[in-house]
Amino acid sequence: MMCDPLILAVPGVRGLVPYEPGKPIEELERELGVKDAIKLASNENPYGPSPRAQAAAVAALGHVSRYPDGGAFALKRALAGRLHVGERQITLGNGSNDVLELIARTFLSPGEVAICDQFAFAAYPISVRGIGAEMIMVPSRDYAHDLEAMANALSPAVRMVFLANPNNPTGTWFSRDDLERFLAACPKSTIVVLDEAYFEYVADAAYPDGRTFLDRYPNLIVVRTFSKVYGLAGLRLGFALSSPALADLMNRLRQPFNVNAVAQAAAIAALDDQAYVAEMVAVNAEQRKALCASLGTLRVTALPSVGNFLCLKVDDAPRLYQALLRKGVIVRPLGPYGMPHHVRVTVGRPEENARFLRELSALLDPVRET
Ligand SMILES: Cc1ncc(COP(=O)(O)O)c(C=O)c1O
Repeated sequence: MMCDPLILAVPGVRGLVPYEPGKPIEELERELGVKDAIKLASNENPYGPSPRAQAAAVAALGHVSRYPDGGAFALKRALAGRLHVGERQITLGNGSNDVLELIARTFLSPGEVAICDQFAFAAYPISVRGIGAEMIMVPSRDYAHDLEAMANALSPAVRMVFLANPNNPTGTWFSRDDLERFLAACPKSTIVVLDEAYFEYVADAAYPDGRTFLDRYPNLIVVRTFSKVYGLAGLRLGFALSSPALADLMNRLRQPFNVNAVAQAAAIAALDDQAYVAEMVAVNAEQRKALCASLGTLRVTALPSVGNFLCLKVDDAPRLYQALLRKGVIVRPLGPYGMPHHVRVTVGRPEENARFLRELSALLDPVRET
């Protein structure tokens, strides 16, 4: 008789619950036969990448019989130039998710402890628990990171801290002063992972740029991505900025060809088109504001957000999610985060936001629908 497959897995994997991504449009069409669905479920850029990045990706397709440059020389040079960091401070990944996992595998041993916020991005506990380390979730304050409580949770046993600024799925963020205080309280032997996936979107003057802390905090790793404002989620490219010493350690374990040639070429062109980034940021801010205002008139509360998504309080999120699916609108129910009364919606194009609002309004108030 076949043995229980569970015991074949390493201990950390046995208790994992798979990450639930946003439902792809094709899956909804397959499952419910819904045509013309819109996806506002994964915080992608609804306008896609810069046309220059697209052209570079198409040109790179002509060379895919060759392995990519494993050291990503040109991309690292472009990133270093744009971000004013050394090339040796950069570690690249197949999306920032890959980088997050690489960080856990490089710096955490089974049985060691990491901490993150109660409602932090779900990839952190998966990366940590998967290697047999322990993740302690620190209770949030008003759905935001409670950095004071997180500092109080530090001990010599805590080897790693994950901070998301802004956090996904809540959209909440913390200030430069709060970050400074936290980093000062953290032992230098504790790795602090600062996830800035939505960095480019944030305009608030008090919002910190994690990169500017790297010189003073050699235990800090800042993580960013090309999946959000750069519109390259499908090509998978993220990166870490850290001291050269930490980058060297991560690069020892990194798969040599973890960033494909098309992604490298597209990212270089995308970085070079900052006018497009600025336009995307402006459009997002405008649409987020309009979406918030319309939600207000529907008496739906949104947590304050500085990213390209909103976290909405609703009565019955699973039911609303299913009802919206049937109308061809894909949002993200937050039950897996322990938030059964919240859904997350990405700021889409004006016509997508209008359709979401129309369907939401009808579902919240069935009388109005008839
Ligand atoms: C906070 C945060 N970090 C990391 C990621 C992972 O993004 P990617 O692997 O596409 O770079 C996401 C994706 O939604 C995110 O919201």
